[in-house]
Amino acid sequence: MSTDTNRQWRLKERPQGMVAESNFEYGEQPIPEPGDGEVLVQNLYLSFDPTFRGQMVDRPSYVAPMQLGEVMRGGSGGQVIRSNNPRFQVGDLVSGSGGWQDYFVASSDDVLSLSKLAEGVSIPNALSVFGITGLTAYFGLLDIGQPKPGDTVLVSGAAGATGSVVGQIAKLKGCRVIGIAGGQEKCDWLKREAGFDDTIDYKSENVYKRIRELCPQGINVHFENVGGDILEAALGNLAMNARVVLCGGISSYNSEQAPPGPNSLMNLVITRSRIEGFIVLDYVKQFPLAVKELAQWMSEGKLVSQEDIQQGLENAPQTFMRLFNGKNRGKQILKL
Ligand SMILES: NC(=O)c1ccc[n+]([C@@H]2O[C@H](COP(=O)([O-])OP(=O)(O)OC[C@H]3O[C@@H](n4cnc5c(N)ncnc54)[C@H](OP(=O)(O)O)[C@@H]3O)[C@@H](O)[C@H]2O)c1
Repeated sequence: MSTDTNRQWRLKERPQGMVAESNFEYGEQPIPEPGDGEVLVQNLYLSFDPTFRGQMVDRPSYVAPMQLGEVMRGGSGGQVIRSNNPRFQVGDLVSGSGGWQDYFVASSDDVLSLSKLAEGVSIPNALSVFGITGLTAYFGLLDIGQPKPGDTVLVSGAAGATGSVVGQIAKLKGCRVIGIAGGQEKCDWLKREAGFDDTIDYKSENVYKRIRELCPQGINVHFENVGGDILEAALGNLAMNARVVLCGGISSYNSEQAPPGPNSLMNLVITRSRIEGFIVLDYVKQFPLAVKELAQWMSEGKLVSQEDIQQGLENAPQTFMRLFNGKNRGKQILKL
């Protein structure tokens, strides 16, 4: 792979089952020229998010699917190399939707396409705790979950980028927090570094029984990142007036069939509980205020951000796959 051209990974074929390296195709193009009002950015880091697995498939969703041959979509952070837009200067550090490539031209300066990093913010932090995953945790928990002091909050996918921030914010709000994660090492990290009160290793424990043991009064807020059996176990253990936040269902993202619906839905009736999905993009206008609060917690040492930084654009497909085999330790990032 040379570096004086624009190295890219494109969608070669739609995945069948687990996403595989053969779904992607490597190529090189000339470095693009920015037009009027546009900015040329050199990507320095790529962000990896499970939602892009969904966009590889040709089906309706909240974002149009990727087309075959399209550069793989994804968040990124980098530096402005050329600017025809007075809002951006050469050398500015930015985050945006750069995709799996060395360079991209941003033709729009809305906050998702391109935005300048605040003074002192590192690119990995901008892609994690101050980026989409941190904001998902913030709005999903606070707006949909509405935690109250003393509540018991259960989080699945707890050691991941989103889940680990959810649990920490819940602790800041005076809740008791239990995290479900795969493996003892992740569970140990949650208690030691992220301040969770208890954990459940779904790979070695019966999740339903452990929730029942740890939460005999039931769960007040459940933040769901995984779906399937874990959602089923949580729905069977709700307290009265519980709030179930449907953030994602990663356990089915690589399945050809939709998972069976949960059997415990009637428990929502019995407990007068509420289940609600959300998409973080609906909160774009409120991002700046949320980032300010997250930054305040970080500076006070009340919030830790775990970032898993792999190396080299050639490893982009393998890095993406880490999200689905659980190898990632916190926010999955790739340094170019
Ligand atoms: N609604 C929204 O607007 C929004 C926005 C961003 C993200 N999300 C959702 O938030 C969730 C977390 O995303 P993230 O970016 O923070 O990723 P992440 O949690 O950092 O990484 C994914 C984790 O999912 C777990 N996982 C993967 N396959 C699994 C399976 N079959 N069963 C159980 N666990 C599995 C793995 O952890 P273990 O080792 O513990 O298995 C893996 O580390 C995803 O569902 C994503 O779609 C939603």
